[in-house]
Amino acid sequence: MLKISRYQDISLIENEAKKDYVDRHSPFVHCKTSAKAGEKFEIKVRMGKDYEHPDDFDHYISNISIFDKDKKLAEATFYAGALGGQGKKGHQEVTFYVLLEKDATITAQSYCTKHGLWESDPIKVSVS
Ligand SMILES: [Fe+2]
Repeated sequence: MLKISRYQDISLIENEAKKDYVDRHSPFVHCKTSAKAGEKFEIKVRMGKDYEHPDDFDHYISNISIFDKDKKLAEATFYAGALGGQGKKGHQEVTFYVLLEKDATITAQSYCTKHGLWESDPIKVSVS
């Protein structure tokens, strides 16, 4: 069965290595909580708040996707080297533009080539 890891509040985690692990693998959705129907709506997703993820050839963030509930809206693909390559680290990020017609619940998922699938907390967007 597919395992999906989720963000945990890292202020409650004492182990520094675990804080780093959880934060750098978590996609964070940045968007407004209200939108106008049929108008371009910006959704930014950034990996990690405080900790950067490696960009090694065998260990990197390979995609970020966004969903409205269970419907996939968009996906961005990345390759090793996008953040400087072997030995470098960074916050992978992407900005999507979508048109929403009714209230939405936006969630992001990301995939690390070594540590699997991770999911953000959902953000409710009211559409008028
Ligand atoms: Fe990783």
